[in-house]
Amino acid sequence: MNQSNKKNLEFIKNSGVTYFLQDSPRNWFEDNKKNHKQHVINGDNDKILNINKVIDSIKSHQTPLQKSSKKLVVYDGTLNAKVMFIGEAPGKDEDEKGIPFVGRAGQLLNKMLKAINLNREDVYITNVVNWRPPDNRTPTDEEILEFLPFLQKQIDIVDPKFIFLLGGVAAKAILSTPLALGKLRGKWHEYKSLKLNKTIYTIASYHPAFLLRSPQYKKASWEDLQMLQKKLNDD
Ligand code: URA
Repeated sequence: MNQSNKKNLEFIKNSGVTYFLQDSPRNWFEDNKKNHKQHVINGDNDKILNINKVIDSIKSHQTPLQKSSKKLVVYDGTLNAKVMFIGEAPGKDEDEKGIPFVGRAGQLLNKMLKAINLNREDVYITNVVNWRPPDNRTPTDEEILEFLPFLQKQIDIVDPKFIFLLGGVAAKAILSTPLALGKLRGKWHEYKSLKLNKTIYTIASYHPAFLLRSPQYKKASWEDLQMLQKKLNDD
């Protein structure tokens, strides 16, 4: 590719147009989510277009995590969700399927949702980091910061009324605090989106994987879920 073509492509890429960057012609009738198997039940066209742009930008972002992962994991649920659930990073099962929270922790999350009359199809589920860290290690602070812009964009697109943070990594990313969950849970926090120019009520609680290991914290988790349910009922 000669230098001026390269510059042109960079210009198109920087302007936010990504469709020209495909190696092969885009087939508009193909399921364009095939590679990452997200389960969008619904969502208006703008949201679908914008979320696909975010997915494209995560895919083209160079990171060592990509090399040790099988599939990109971005989201499950609906783009029209009132509540966004944010976990840590994909595990082994999620990495195989390309869908967040499908392993044991995911089964528990499904039960937690059911307990407050929600289904996965009613909410938006994602993670701070979109590739599986090797050996399921906790994402580093650098990795959290690296993926934060993609997460913030998803929040701006979905525009949820409430955010439910699952575990310390999500709390650190969204509430910008090193405080432990024991100190953060049980009360509402405010996440400010500069783009939306609004505040989104946010709660931080225990990660389902932690609850599987330490069931004595389920009572506190249930209290946090009920706080969310009350807000949803009052809304
Ligand atoms: N744990 C997470 O934080 N996210 C997943 O998707 C699965 C397990």
